[in-house]
Amino acid sequence: MDFEKLEIAANLIRKAKYAIAFTGAGISVDSGIPPFRGENGLWNKMDPIFLEIGYFRKKPLQSWKKIKEIFYDTLGDTQPNIAHEILAKMEKRSFLESIITQNIDHLHQKAGSRYVYELHGTYKQLVCTECGSEFDMSFADLKYLPPTCYICKGILKPDMVFFNEPIPAFAKKRSFEEAGKADVLIIIGTNAEVLPAAEIPVVAKENGAKIIEINIEETHFTREITDIYLQGKASEIMKGIGELLYL
Ligand code: APR
Repeated sequence: MDFEKLEIAANLIRKAKYAIAFTGAGISVDSGIPPFRGENGLWNKMDPIFLEIGYFRKKPLQSWKKIKEIFYDTLGDTQPNIAHEILAKMEKRSFLESIITQNIDHLHQKAGSRYVYELHGTYKQLVCTECGSEFDMSFADLKYLPPTCYICKGILKPDMVFFNEPIPAFAKKRSFEEAGKADVLIIIGTNAEVLPAAEIPVVAKENGAKIIEINIEETHFTREITDIYLQGKASEIMKGIGELLYL
């Protein structure tokens, strides 16, 4: 770990008027959740077709079987790691205003963060494809697939953004507003290769924010917009930042 750069980053956060975080799959790797891309990535284990909205509508049972195996059989037991915890403490101590995340794993909220904008939705909630009612997943019995709506018996869909579905309007609007206000943006564990997520750090940069990036390897952000690149695991780097902020 480069301690000099870590201190510069901690000082920037300490002095910031409006710091925000932008997170991706890499922050949850140390909680045992695989990322999407790369050798151990989800896209090597799961055909993305099961998360395509047209396919889901035509073959909800096939989609649900795979989705249950990959997400619902595993995510409920996962716990936040120290990187999620430090971000939650930063919010409590007013070092951080909000988190914009591409993750659907609900670990930021589990760690105690309150201002979390989920650009790609959440696995935690199910939404009826017929009447639009929303239910916490704990109400659904996934022994019987596909789960159906208690109100109209329509098929329930995970409230995650599927391929060919729009980004939730509120999360998108708030994320871009936050990016416009930020004077420090901390990118943690993301390739951000998909739009509009990829634009968020760029909007912050264009509005004058300093960009701190934490990742085990360089990304297109490192080359294009990052001011301070902290190479390493999110859990280790965030632990270091937490210590420097006396959290
Ligand atoms: N600490 C920090 N960074 C890590 C760690 C770690 N322990 N492990 C992996 N990374 C980094 C990788 O180097 C990579 O840059 O996390 C990133 C994970 O990238 P992706 O798997 O592409 O995940 P993400 O960027 O969140 O994907 C964005 O793509 O398919 C969509 O909807 C999906 O939300 C997802 C979006």
